[in-house]
Amino acid sequence: MLELGSLKMKSVLNKILKKKNKSKIICLTAYSKNIAQIIDKHCDIVLVGDSLGSVLYNYKSTKKVTLDIMIEHSKSVRMGIKKSLMVVDMPYNTYRNSSEGLKNAKKIMRITKCDAVKLEGGTKIFNTVKTLIKNKIPVMGHLGVLPQSAKNFKSKGKKKSEKKKILKEAKLLEQAGVFSIVLECVETQLAKNITREIKIPTIGIGASLYCDGQVLVTDDLIGLNQIKVRFVKKYENITKKIRSAIINFKNEVKKKKFPQKKHSY
Ligand code: KIV
Repeated sequence: MLELGSLKMKSVLNKILKKKNKSKIICLTAYSKNIAQIIDKHCDIVLVGDSLGSVLYNYKSTKKVTLDIMIEHSKSVRMGIKKSLMVVDMPYNTYRNSSEGLKNAKKIMRITKCDAVKLEGGTKIFNTVKTLIKNKIPVMGHLGVLPQSAKNFKSKGKKKSEKKKILKEAKLLEQAGVFSIVLECVETQLAKNITREIKIPTIGIGASLYCDGQVLVTDDLIGLNQIKVRFVKKYENITKKIRSAIINFKNEVKKKKFPQKKHSY
């Protein structure tokens, strides 16, 4: 566990920052200890994303995810992480102004012992981000498609006005002090420009290979969550493997092949 503001935590953060323009930053989501344990070794950042609302709870939007849900999952994830930076999403309506944001960020940091929080938005959250950072809470930004407020999930940055706004907001977040920015479904050229124009790393999801790092929802890439969107690559079909193990168990129980003597007391 990295202690807030500790030397170890600062060195993990510095290592991530230094990867910009050198090597890619690996970020994946975890909602529980078991997955966190597996991915920790291979990640720079483990994100407890509020995507758990749709992935685990079948919510139509992340708006329904509460602070308590995020805290309980984060406590579990914390137990599985030894070396990665652990970032927790602040859920919808928990940072509508600076004082609300600070109160809730402090609660998340204190109870879950995470290393940083992630907030969605640009201009609207500028003061909140500054307040958190002033209070020694590291913040990750999130621009492009913002699931907590999105009306649709169309890619962002194709229109000239959108391009200008997102680039401006990326610079604003950098100025506020975020250590990195997630770019979700941001058009390729814009993602490339933002990555070139800011000094902190960008982490892309559906935002091209020009970002400094990539993030995916782990359940999507292992095929545990059945989702078909352009930016997800399914690296494994774990559902098939789980099904096969369950069927083997069922058949062995029915045929009285399990449990054997070695499984019995
Ligand atoms: O909630 C989440 O998992 C996220 C990532 C997809 C970036 O915000």
